[in-house]
Amino acid sequence: MQILQVASEAFPLIKTGGLADVVGALPGALAGEGVAMRSLLPGYPAVMAALRDATLIVHDIADLPGGPARLLATRCQGLDVLVLDAPQIFDRAGGPYANAQGQEWPDNPLRFASLAAAAARIAQRGIGGWRPDLLHAHDWQAGLVPAYLHYWGIRTPSVMTIHNLAFPGKFDPNLAAALFLPPEAMGFEGMEFYGAGSMLKAGLVFADRVTTVSPSYAAEILTPDDGMGLDGVLRARGAAVSGILNGIDTTAWNPASDAHLAARFTASDRSGRAMNKAALQDMMGLAADPDAPLFGVVSRLSWQKGLDVLLAALPALLGAGAQLVVLGAGDPSLEAGLRYAAAAHPGRIGCRIGYDEGLARLIQGGVDALLVPSRFEPCGLTQLCALRYGAIPVVARVGGLADTVIDANAMARAAGVATGVQFAPVTPDRLSGAIAATVALYHDHAAWHRMQDNAMAADVSWTQPARLYARLYAELVG
Ligand code: ADP
Ligand code: GLC
Repeated sequence: MQILQVASEAFPLIKTGGLADVVGALPGALAGEGVAMRSLLPGYPAVMAALRDATLIVHDIADLPGGPARLLATRCQGLDVLVLDAPQIFDRAGGPYANAQGQEWPDNPLRFASLAAAAARIAQRGIGGWRPDLLHAHDWQAGLVPAYLHYWGIRTPSVMTIHNLAFPGKFDPNLAAALFLPPEAMGFEGMEFYGAGSMLKAGLVFADRVTTVSPSYAAEILTPDDGMGLDGVLRARGAAVSGILNGIDTTAWNPASDAHLAARFTASDRSGRAMNKAALQDMMGLAADPDAPLFGVVSRLSWQKGLDVLLAALPALLGAGAQLVVLGAGDPSLEAGLRYAAAAHPGRIGCRIGYDEGLARLIQGGVDALLVPSRFEPCGLTQLCALRYGAIPVVARVGGLADTVIDANAMARAAGVATGVQFAPVTPDRLSGAIAATVALYHDHAAWHRMQDNAMAADVSWTQPARLYARLYAELVG
């Protein structure tokens, strides 16, 4: 089976969040299921730089909303990529979606319509004699893929995956013609969204199947509370909507071989964790205390992630004698709040604002517990990394966090199966309670070691998810 996935990010070429990790890992995971997957990506400067030494096959691709473009085909970083080379829309300094000041690129509709239209043209005409059996579109940036297939009468089946419903990919409906869409596309039955157009809604309406990245999030988004205004659209799709959990690349995330750790370790010999903890305490300016429970956070700093709630719960954390390290970047007010907390509690709270892959790994391999107090979380990957590295995840009971962590409630502990701590709702009180409960577990050495054993034995790999995607594709391709 030949699949073309379409996305704006793929690790290690370009990444702003977990979307990139998933898109980067899927082809490798699916290869074992007999699925050959190519990836269509925008030619951002970082992507073009990665292609510099690659052997490229150049294909012409005409008629895109964003103007002239070429497709560059090559293998790069283990991915079979098709890169949309269109400098007038992708070759610019700043981020993939916004400039350095955080203002969205005004031509985003044209940019991502071009990406989606290129995918539809590949399905329609093939490229170098190759044609996909199915298109798999990820998030709003690829949301128009199923719409073009529909309006252009291309019969290739499509799957739309929601990684985050909070980003609808809105655009001015007056752009319909410029985006090569018929006027009726802007109607309520099409991609109309509260007076605007929504690329994500286009995908939800026109794809043959809609998936999201955990079963719990798939259920949550059908409700007005979590549906971000699209719950009605999703409910109307009925059984076409399902959830398939993410995995992580367990070869890349392996504490036995991770070069970023101060000391490597395995499930059967975790003694290296103490050295990682000491290295982390030293690096982040914390007191060198092997017995203080050390909590960690690795996160984008956005409202979704609930870190304002963590700031409000700090008295409980400090009162329990614990320490905290935070690595993250994003919302300036959260950055300021975290910096302030670290300055106010030297030796107890350490904070690094920025993006740092190596430090993220040392945190996973050195903290005792990883905090993920998200208000909503489609899947979440950091708790999966934590399980793999024997850091106990302390998570909000939402979305993929609820699906991947076994709460240390009385029954789970009696059965000896707990892997972490869950709390709900996401309030300072409940988070404080979860932190206190985690510290109590930490001091019960037998219970803690049992949880670490369970955490590290949990299957967080792509094996099962890849099987489910392959099955889904097979149903549609027939
Ligand atoms: P989201 O995509 O919503 O940000 P996920 O948990 O799915 O959340 O994925 C986040 C990914 O980004 C993980 O791979 C995580 O390790 C990484 N990450 C987030 N913030 C940072 C950071 N400041 N430094 C390094 N890695 C980070
Ligand atoms: C999104 C979600 C996150 C998910 C990731 C990859 O960024 O916020 O929960 O893990 O996509 O699917």
